[in-house]
Amino acid sequence: MGFKIIKYGSPILRKKSVEITENDNVALIVENLFSTLKKEGGLGLAGPQVGILKQIFVIDTSPLTEEDSLITKIENAIVNPEIVGLSEEKEYYNEGCLSIPGIYEDVLRPETIDVRYYDINFNLIEERLDGIKARIFQHEYDHLEGILFIDRLSPLKRKLLSGKLNKIKKG
Ligand code: CO
Repeated sequence: MGFKIIKYGSPILRKKSVEITENDNVALIVENLFSTLKKEGGLGLAGPQVGILKQIFVIDTSPLTEEDSLITKIENAIVNPEIVGLSEEKEYYNEGCLSIPGIYEDVLRPETIDVRYYDINFNLIEERLDGIKARIFQHEYDHLEGILFIDRLSPLKRKLLSGKLNKIKKG
């Protein structure tokens, strides 16, 4: 089981996702997102990246915890998320994306965020996130809004990447 990853250039990645409802088979979507993520070896995967334009994503930090035992392992499915607060303090972190293979760049984002979301059983969760969890959450949340991490780079940086991006677009 699993999904095929939609790559940069597809208009699907630029669309806004709709809310998950109780009619959606959340358990099945989550199972497929996790198996696809494990197979592809990323840290997070959002619905739109597999053609599901719904507000859902999964986080799995096991590729990092295998390298660094100080990082706590997080395996979490996030439904209908909202970011309700952003810290003024920002930091750079080197990001990549399964939809934009081969490109890794430092992206500036708030360090700490306050979030609301539902778990797979539709329990409301409210928490403050920092570190790697805040980083992945913001990257995946952007996917639900049709935003990619390269949109958050400087115009010059993006220009320098345009050749590589065009190559991905052409497949
Ligand atoms: Co991504």
